[in-house]
Amino acid sequence: MEDRMENKNEMTRSRKEAADRADWWKSAVVYQIYPKSFQDSSGNGFGDIRGILSRLDYLTWLGVNVLWICPIYRSPMVDNGYDIADYYHVDPSFGTDEDLDELIREAEKRGMKILMDLVVNHTSDQHAWFQEALKDPEGPYGKYYIFRKGKDGKAPDNLRSYFGGSAWEPVGRGDLYYFHAFAKEQPDLNWENEAVREEISRMVNYWLDKGIGGFRIDAIGNIKKNLTRSYYEPDGEDGLAYAGAWIQNQPGIEDFLRELDEKTFRPHNSMTVAEVGVPAERLEDFIGENGFFRMVFDFSYTDIDVPETAEWYVPTGWTVKDFRNNLFRSQLDTRKVGWAAPYLENHDQPRSLNKYIPEEDIGYYSASMLGTLFLCLRGTPFIYQGQEIGMTNIRMDSLADYDDVASVDQYHRAVQHGISREEAMEALYRRSRDNGRIPMQWSGKRNAGFSENEKTWLKVNPNYLNINVEKEMEEPESVLHFYRKLIALRRESEYADTLVYGELVPICPEGGAESEDVIAYFREDAGRRLLVACNFGGKEQKLSLDAAVVNGADAALQMREKQMILDNYGKTRWEKDGILCLHPYECVICEL
Ligand code: GLC
Repeated sequence: MEDRMENKNEMTRSRKEAADRADWWKSAVVYQIYPKSFQDSSGNGFGDIRGILSRLDYLTWLGVNVLWICPIYRSPMVDNGYDIADYYHVDPSFGTDEDLDELIREAEKRGMKILMDLVVNHTSDQHAWFQEALKDPEGPYGKYYIFRKGKDGKAPDNLRSYFGGSAWEPVGRGDLYYFHAFAKEQPDLNWENEAVREEISRMVNYWLDKGIGGFRIDAIGNIKKNLTRSYYEPDGEDGLAYAGAWIQNQPGIEDFLRELDEKTFRPHNSMTVAEVGVPAERLEDFIGENGFFRMVFDFSYTDIDVPETAEWYVPTGWTVKDFRNNLFRSQLDTRKVGWAAPYLENHDQPRSLNKYIPEEDIGYYSASMLGTLFLCLRGTPFIYQGQEIGMTNIRMDSLADYDDVASVDQYHRAVQHGISREEAMEALYRRSRDNGRIPMQWSGKRNAGFSENEKTWLKVNPNYLNINVEKEMEEPESVLHFYRKLIALRRESEYADTLVYGELVPICPEGGAESEDVIAYFREDAGRRLLVACNFGGKEQKLSLDAAVVNGADAALQMREKQMILDNYGKTRWEKDGILCLHPYECVICEL
């Protein structure tokens, strides 16, 4: 009987494994490009598609095989392209439609897929639909958006938009307002309207039929609203209440998401990764076998420095232990139902080095350690441009140097809450999204080789003389070469299968490490067991594998033979009895 059960389990497992392998994106390594800051080919200070084309060989050399391109559609750029005025055409500042076709083709030639950004919670207020809606809010396009009547000169309710201020904007006609979860120039689409859903499916299929690999899907948890009240308990001095609770993952959203998947992504076997916070108990609906998406991004370990109120000028006082717990919880919860999309950075985040590492310790060791910790996780890793060379946050001189609407808003809110201007600027240095959006550092030449123009749209970090692609390519011991090795391990080494499909088994600190600063785990499958051990701090640490094994994994583990795979110090030390001594910020990948 037990034998039969075991056989059945094994069959289910191998079917699952076979299914895993059929999904092409699982073994991919993604590289995210923020086009405005990647490479300027025209010399106007803004990045463009031809700039990306000119760097495809670099990306091939790096070893990535999916490129997520942040929005390049026509847009007035209030939110840098996340306010779309025309879903079918490229914004002239990025080039032409033909440039984009060429990018898709050229990427394909190099074995790379393009992942576009899908922004369908809202459009730009310049979109033809919205312009028509303004002309005739009662007409067909009025039903594309969310219009509501206010009362006595006041908005329909007191919800706050994500970017600050009321979520309702008057349209200057009677008492009429429209809803916007983000900036007022980003009116939310009305997904209850079937015509809207049809327009969106058609547009998604238009792009998928061009041969792109799929989509990163923006703010998709917000498409269903529950806006039934006229008053919410304020949570700030502005008398407004955070809208998130009423417009995120609301009941009924499932129907919209399933319909979209069935009409578009699934028939194309697309890669989809959604920007949506999903609690563990609902993950299966989102990324299970019949889930709406193939992956979702989890914010729990990247937004560890953002309080629940989303007011990020207030530090959260997080610890390495919190980070480890969130990271492992995310990995294990995801494992139960589907596939993960680990990331440390994106265009909405500051640089990971500044977030996770004390300023004085930022450098080759800490950057390669972070890269190792993250690139060996289970799931499809997303690397953000510049992360692979260890780019860092930038100190801007004044508020005027910032472009991001959300950062400017946070600054004012901080000051409004009694924080000094210096501290508010410090918060921007720590957390502004512009830290991740400054120009890519290619070389020691003018503007870090990003642009020939005198001025660039955001300032270049003065540290580009030390941190740049060209320099790091020449140094075998650089963050860049380390990332390249990590990518190769996942994509084409003898360990690739274990690193991609193997189980992740956390080594609990109580079991193995003497200090909370060690984050370590096994990746294992039937054939191999790999150890990934990272010292997350500036002091030497020890990790006792014997203890870890007894407490967590498998008492039968043979500790005798250890095959070193990668180590940022290049001189790993073992004490007898399976104790691994880790230098400050050392990372080790070895086979046990
Ligand atoms: C997502 C994007 C962000 C944008 C927002 C509104 O969070 O990642 O950059 O500002 O949606 O579209």
